[in-house]
Amino acid sequence: MKTIEGYSKLSKTQKMDWLVENFFDGDKKVKEEFEGFLHKDEQIQKSFDEFTENTITNFYMPLGIAPNFIINGKPYALPMAIEESSVVAAMAKTGKFWMDKGGFKAEIFDTKKIGQVHFSFQGDVAKLKADFASIKQFLLENSAYLSVNMEARGGGVVDVELVDFTTQEPDLFQLKVSFQTCDSMGANYINTVLEEMAQLIKQVVSVEKYNDSPYIIMSIVSNYTPECIARAWVECPIEDLGTISGVPAQEFAQKFKKAIRIAEVDPHRATTHNKGIFNGVDAVIIATGNDFRAVEACGHTYASKDGQYRSLTHCSIENGIFKFWIDLPLAVGTVGGLTQLHPLVKRCMQMLGYPDARELMMIVAVSGLAQNFAAIKAMTTVGIQKGHMKMHLLNILNHLEASDDEKHYALEYFRDKIVSFTNVRVMLDQVRSDEVKKS
Ligand code: MEV
Repeated sequence: MKTIEGYSKLSKTQKMDWLVENFFDGDKKVKEEFEGFLHKDEQIQKSFDEFTENTITNFYMPLGIAPNFIINGKPYALPMAIEESSVVAAMAKTGKFWMDKGGFKAEIFDTKKIGQVHFSFQGDVAKLKADFASIKQFLLENSAYLSVNMEARGGGVVDVELVDFTTQEPDLFQLKVSFQTCDSMGANYINTVLEEMAQLIKQVVSVEKYNDSPYIIMSIVSNYTPECIARAWVECPIEDLGTISGVPAQEFAQKFKKAIRIAEVDPHRATTHNKGIFNGVDAVIIATGNDFRAVEACGHTYASKDGQYRSLTHCSIENGIFKFWIDLPLAVGTVGGLTQLHPLVKRCMQMLGYPDARELMMIVAVSGLAQNFAAIKAMTTVGIQKGHMKMHLLNILNHLEASDDEKHYALEYFRDKIVSFTNVRVMLDQVRSDEVKKS
């Protein structure tokens, strides 16, 4: 196959034609299928086209709803864009479970974000450090014009620090800049300020005065925001938990706490445990048009903050009170990015009552906590497969192209049987051969 030049300049149809010709043996049906996923409203399709590059069609994800959530006394229906069937069901159950026990509580500790200018410097380090207060002043004053709008909204640059990395890497330094970015995630604003500061530090730290001038390696926002953190929790007297799938409240609470402890001490378990948390977090993050890669990266780094990867959730039982909580660093935006562009993101924001960034952080932290509660509750009582495979049954049936009647029959049939791909196939083969015999 020849290299294609200027693919991005082709029309959407030409892009599809090239793809189908080169990777689908020119099968016209494939092109029709791609076209079938385009939006009928041209304006909406145009904005989808422009969300990314080289768009040929749209990639669908289901949007599920987890109703019955009370957070800080306010009712919510949580929007979840996710393909894993059991996640939304588990979430919905958990919202309801905590509804009559006071619901979820949440608070924000801080919303500070970080950006870094990484540079090499081989000059007079002692003078650089001694002069840093006035260097910082110069950087702040001369980059201030970039923060006018952000300051008007109550944010801006909070601090600039000089960090010396030379014990780990020769000549390596960093400007560590902290920001408040209000309701925007802030990456663009932060990167713009950093790139300006990178130019400014070269001006103010000159070869004449410092025997060297900073050699800029790169300037970029840090997705690790340990000071932009939401805490969410649930708590109630143990007996209010009730008997859960035959497990008495006391036993359930102790077993639950031990399960959390396992994820605090064992990285193998912690990884799966936190994955479950991100089932809830990512689904809400995607539905609200935020960057789930940034949120994931940040959460996993935070989970390793003391040198070992650990659970993001914690549990205590004190004086008969069961408490379960999560501390989650999160950089989210409720303005800018997709939030005003994607029609379904707009609806999800409306459904949440147009939260500001702090409220959205709390909602997302609750989603992670609730998802984790559901998983641990299931695993420490009936086991995960019961609920999981029941939900998965539909996926298997769809994979095996079951008709509506067959699906209906299968849902009844597997009410008291183990769901597995093989068992479903055997059942379907049986149903289908009985049908043939009857006809
Ligand atoms: C599956 O997507 C998530 C779980 O594995 C999470 C967990 O084990 O805690 C059920």
